Amino acid sequence: MSAGLDFNIDLTALEEAMLNGSHGEAVHKAMVSVLKYGEAMDAERLVNITGAPHLVTSFGAGVIEPYFQIIDQLLAEGLKTSVPFTVNPRPVDEENFNYGFLEKLAFRFMYKKQDAYEKQLAGLGLQNKDAFTCACYLPQVGNWPAEGSILAWSESSAVVFANSVLGAKCNRNSAGLDILCNILGKAPYYGLLTDEGRMASAMIELKTDTLPHPQLLGSVIGQEMMEEVPYLVGLREFLGEEMNRQVMDYLKDMGAASAASGAVGLYHAEGLTPEAKMHRRSLLQNNYRRVVIDDQKLHSALQSFPVLWKNANARPQLCFIGCPHLSLEQLDYWVKKIAARLQRSGRKKAKAYTLLCAPPAVIEEYRHNNPGDCEMLHRAGVDLSFLCPLMYLNNPLSAKKTVATNSGKLRTYTAARFLLDEQLLGECIT
Ligand code: F3S
Repeated sequence: MSAGLDFNIDLTALEEAMLNGSHGEAVHKAMVSVLKYGEAMDAERLVNITGAPHLVTSFGAGVIEPYFQIIDQLLAEGLKTSVPFTVNPRPVDEENFNYGFLEKLAFRFMYKKQDAYEKQLAGLGLQNKDAFTCACYLPQVGNWPAEGSILAWSESSAVVFANSVLGAKCNRNSAGLDILCNILGKAPYYGLLTDEGRMASAMIELKTDTLPHPQLLGSVIGQEMMEEVPYLVGLREFLGEEMNRQVMDYLKDMGAASAASGAVGLYHAEGLTPEAKMHRRSLLQNNYRRVVIDDQKLHSALQSFPVLWKNANARPQLCFIGCPHLSLEQLDYWVKKIAARLQRSGRKKAKAYTLLCAPPAVIEEYRHNNPGDCEMLHRAGVDLSFLCPLMYLNNPLSAKKTVATNSGKLRTYTAARFLLDEQLLGECIT
């Protein structure tokens, strides 16, 4: 046990004991890591985590062997999270995705530790074998943190949703730190956990003629704000003030794009999100700046997205919809849209192999209720899948394909080409 560890962070008697090894070597090491991280972020103290965990690391890639060794140490000392947790989407979906032979081999090699890692996750307290999705807060998955609860999540799209739409409190943590904090039940108190860290430094005024595409708007918000907190004015003119499923889905997609093109971890939307409803414009810092987003700015942003395909005029071979994962209602919307397009055009097959990505439980419910539609779509080259498109594109063989998407996040991190919904349907379906 290392002696003489001294951190510039106030600790309770229990935390001191955890640091000093009274709760075992693994807890001691986890405390050291969390405190070092907290010190680097100028945290004054630790706070208790009060919401269920969600982990970002969902893939058993051999290159992260040290991470698996850390999990082994936690398990060897019988440690697990105090409540069941969810985790990001699986990297591979052999059940639903139509892989090429070589592609499948490459994935099996890349993620050869997947089964072993999933056993580790089960030992640590994974909610169930289907708890793999970034949209863990959807009702079919059920990891819905209460307003005001303290979390230590890392998945950027889930963090921004939990903070903004649900009013939970969570920093954008790093992979690995999420599991350590949640094993300890402690998070360093800084940034978005504090009242001052949740104040907005800018007022974004939306001045568009119609409701913008959520992922395009989110991409522009991210570019404008980077990691700052915006206070959005003008959304409720289009979305109303009721936080219903449709509004949540819009905010889910907008937030995910803002978290990827910038590093937005929290936004307030006037008249809509819980803190903005309660505190209104008192959430704005004294010297806040004003930013206007209008149709012209959105159009310019769309034009500025580079086409990273080798041949910019090529046709898409693959289309991903559902990054972040689709809700049941969004899945239904897309299935109906695609089916109508195919019928109208008289086509039997979609032009590009199309994947609608959603949590396993959402896919199961949808299939159960709509078996005929799913079968028809499958025959047309449109599948429902629980994988993460970004992890799919980590495979160099897959990354060579010309991929189209309506996801700002996928566009930011890969060579996938961003298209607005109608254009995407035109290019990929008919
Ligand atoms: Fe979710 Fe993967 Fe997209 S984690 S947000 S589907 S990149």
